[in-house]
Amino acid sequence: MPTALITGATAGIGAAFARHLAAEAFSLVLVARDELRLAKTADQLKLRYGVSVEVLPADLSTEEGLARVESRLRDGVDLLVNNAGFGNAGNFPHVPVGNEVRMLKVHCEAVLRLTLAALPGMRERERGAIVNVASVAAFFTRGTYSASKAWVVNFSESAATTVGPRIRVMALCPGFVRTEFHQRASMDASGIPWFLWLKADDVVREAMRDLAVGRRVSIPSLRYKLVVAVGRLIPRGVQAMVSQRIGR
Ligand SMILES: NC(=O)c1ccc[n+]([C@@H]2O[C@H](COP(=O)([O-])OP(=O)(O)OC[C@H]3O[C@@H](n4cnc5c(N)ncnc54)[C@H](OP(=O)(O)O)[C@@H]3O)[C@@H](O)[C@H]2O)c1
Repeated sequence: MPTALITGATAGIGAAFARHLAAEAFSLVLVARDELRLAKTADQLKLRYGVSVEVLPADLSTEEGLARVESRLRDGVDLLVNNAGFGNAGNFPHVPVGNEVRMLKVHCEAVLRLTLAALPGMRERERGAIVNVASVAAFFTRGTYSASKAWVVNFSESAATTVGPRIRVMALCPGFVRTEFHQRASMDASGIPWFLWLKADDVVREAMRDLAVGRRVSIPSLRYKLVVAVGRLIPRGVQAMVSQRIGR
């Protein structure tokens, strides 16, 4: 049975990855901070899909949490999903610097270090895949969140070319997905039109199809492929000005 380690596996997109991969008979390693919720998620997955599920409580913004997950990855996994992430309440430059750095640690440092920890085992077995969850925001100049996700896309694309032909690395760039994300970040999402909302299960299904055909960047849904294509035509300076006016 192949093994997948998913960070941020207790809610939203990470939980959808866990369900999808359990249905595909992967053994799972689930990472998040809330231990009770991890245990509950693991029990539900075991009961429903009959797969083995390990839980690994860890805060990826801390040295101790990162080291624990790195150590598990060195034992070997077939698929790593770097999904854990969040948005800060407020906009640059009004967010406390500690919160900004915490976001960089989870979105960038954790993605880099967990990828590095997973790669040697994958190289040895000459197979494996890494999905790094970025965002459509990566293609726009919309503050520190989009800057951190731009790093994830750029890193994933360059890593994909250097890890060798048998290992896949893909950045997943969803648009708005109905999860706990916006509430946790105290964002008012009420003005986002219904047709821009995606379902986490649909995002994961499309991502896994893209991974299977070897895409390096996955942008689920035609809607968001168009959003990114149009966004690329808008000068970065104009994007930044508009973002500043409309906020997040
Ligand atoms: N929802 C969207 O519209 C959207 C769009 C584009 C991209 N994304 C990206 O998709 C990813 C998943 O977001 P989501 O929408 O599914 O969010 P979510 O519903 O809020 O779930 C976040 C998950 O990450 C875990 N997590 C948060 N901080 C963590 C930390 N420091 N260490 C370990 N685990 C942590 C949470 O569990 P604990 O709180 O227990 O740790 C939870 O399992 C993120 O990278 C996000 O940036 C989301």
